[in-house]
Amino acid sequence: MSEPSIAASREGAEQRCTAAECGARFGINERIYVCAHCGGPLEIRGAWGCGGSPAELREKWKQRAATSDAKDRSGVWRYREMLPFGPDVGAVTLFEGNTPLYDAPRSAEYAGVAHMQLKHQGCNPTGSFKDTGMTAAVTQAVLLGARTVVCASTGNTAASLAAYAARAAVRCAILVPRGQITAAKLAQSMDYGAAVLEIDGNFDEAMRVVQELSADPEVYLANSINPFRIEGQKTVAFELLQQRGWEAPEHVLVPGGNLGNSSALAKGFAEMRSLGLIRRLPKLHVIQAEGAAPLAHAFATLDPGRVRQDSSLFPREIKQVKNPQTLATAIKIGAPVSWEKSLRGVLESCGGVLAVSEWEIADAKAVIGRDGVGCEPASATTLAGLRRLVAAGVVKRGESVVAVLTGHVLKDPEYASKYHGGVLVLPEGPGESRPATIAGKFRNPPERVAASRDAIMECLRRRQKCESPTGAL
Ligand code: F0G
Repeated sequence: MSEPSIAASREGAEQRCTAAECGARFGINERIYVCAHCGGPLEIRGAWGCGGSPAELREKWKQRAATSDAKDRSGVWRYREMLPFGPDVGAVTLFEGNTPLYDAPRSAEYAGVAHMQLKHQGCNPTGSFKDTGMTAAVTQAVLLGARTVVCASTGNTAASLAAYAARAAVRCAILVPRGQITAAKLAQSMDYGAAVLEIDGNFDEAMRVVQELSADPEVYLANSINPFRIEGQKTVAFELLQQRGWEAPEHVLVPGGNLGNSSALAKGFAEMRSLGLIRRLPKLHVIQAEGAAPLAHAFATLDPGRVRQDSSLFPREIKQVKNPQTLATAIKIGAPVSWEKSLRGVLESCGGVLAVSEWEIADAKAVIGRDGVGCEPASATTLAGLRRLVAAGVVKRGESVVAVLTGHVLKDPEYASKYHGGVLVLPEGPGESRPATIAGKFRNPPERVAASRDAIMECLRRRQKCESPTGAL
């Protein structure tokens, strides 16, 4: 279907180095992942939405959701005026996006706000937010004629890439730290037919190797350092705004690992503001796990107001965490590749970065479950972070808040079983001799009960006595 009126053209798009002192520009078909001159991060710029007024774009995107066209049904390609592909591109799609925005009263109560929403990216085809980026990256891989796609991963990127590579019938190899990936994520990659390569080392080491590999012209790198991933993932901001009637929330919270997702959301919101679809940016808060929080540490040493005014104060590098530790394995990352873009997005939106403890993540995850939603541990950093921000007065009780849940609850069932069973053991930190067990406040372990009506009724009555009449926590 050709839509010449307001389609972004591939010819109008380019790859641009974001390093202030460089700014080099590259063609959209150049197979590079970082700036070929200075090694800085790349960003895709385009003639987004060209020709369409905000009202026209809103109307077009609304109408597409109701059609049966494959690209219209995808929650990414629906926004194709904002993507660096022509209107006739053969998208590799699994109908990603279209994820729910839930009201979450118990989570709100726990955090101390009147109302909050959860944007559940775990409801994507492979169960994580990665699919929205992968549809764009694998489409680009096919356009460039790549034979093999690769990534380093803590599990979700791998599962997503494996699925999209299978759809596109290109070879796929995933590099994962051995013994540090949940069984569910690994099982997905095996089923989707990828070469599952387990390395002795952590994610950061896998990331280093995969970047070396990508110098090979046969191989296409699909980690979020690849700016096409960011293009797909930025559409989550569009979908979220559309679901809220183009009313930007005051705060958006997102977990931070390799920091691609926060970079993508920041880009999406900024583009909507520059096109006039929203008037102000939501404050973007990136939440990390305490044992894997290089950006939170760096942010704590900054004066955000001064850095906003004087770009020469923007840090040239951040200190890596050598041996990152967290039970939220998805974000067990000490050397995030997209920290610069993420930090710029946070600063521009007047948001922040903070770290939360393993206990806070574990309880927050159980609370999100009580809303009937559920998520994997990394996603629960958002609710834990919100609780802290409310306590610190940064988020006010009546303000509008959206937390982005990045992965499905079934991505890590072992964590949930251990939490509820009271045997979730903290990772060993430096200087700690004995690992502690998390005594969860919202434990709900299975009960062994005799197979009789009386025994079961007795058990239910006993449980009822402990519950609040309103169902509050
Ligand atoms: N949440 C989940 C469930 C993740 O899988 C990840 C990252 C993040 C949050 C953090 O997002 O890296 O963009 O800051 N997972 C990557 C992976 C690293 O390999 O699956 P980020």
